[in-house]
Amino acid sequence: MRFGFKNFRSRKRQAIREQAEFIRQSLGDKSIVLVGLMGAGKTSVGRRLAARLNLPFTDADKEIEIAAGQTIGEIFSEHGEAYFRDGERRVIERLLNNGPQILATGGGAYINQEIRDNIIDHGISVWLRANLETLMERTSRRDHRPLLKTGDPKTVMQHLIEERYPVYAEADITIKSRKVPHDVIVDEIASALKQKFDGNADAPAQGLK
Ligand code: S3P
Repeated sequence: MRFGFKNFRSRKRQAIREQAEFIRQSLGDKSIVLVGLMGAGKTSVGRRLAARLNLPFTDADKEIEIAAGQTIGEIFSEHGEAYFRDGERRVIERLLNNGPQILATGGGAYINQEIRDNIIDHGISVWLRANLETLMERTSRRDHRPLLKTGDPKTVMQHLIEERYPVYAEADITIKSRKVPHDVIVDEIASALKQKFDGNADAPAQGLK
């Protein structure tokens, strides 16, 4: 029994390694770009996906803060949203030249047509789609997000869902982000990527658009 279980686990690990190798090869120098609303899990899932695929992880918001020498909150309050969006566009354009990598983007990035076009050219987009309840639960733990301070956070989030979900829906892959361990989401993203690269894009598969 014990031997059988151990054998099963090592076969599973081997399968995960082979899947990762296949995805890395298929990716070439493209990036896997995580998109979706605040609280969708782009950073936490992105880090784990990077570890799974043995690729570097980059957080676009962090890079914007480094480039500006200010936090996102400071950029919004001192210079306004338009200034932030301009910096965001330039930083993401630069980061997309550094693939292959896992790139987590801020919630508004994919909504910008120019950034979206750039992602199409240099990446595979993965939308982490979460419902209002999940997004509120996760974003209420911290208060560093300027957009959620512009009104009642739940109303703002609901509004953003209505406005942005039709745009996020253009992503190459859609994964339902929900209350399950991050590794489950990582498994689903990896399977969807494998299927996409296998050329089975039309086959019905969980998580594949
Ligand atoms: C924003 C999301 C934030 C950050 C900024 C604006 C948005 O990133 O880029 O506060 O427009 O949705 P996260 O989605 O990582 O919280």
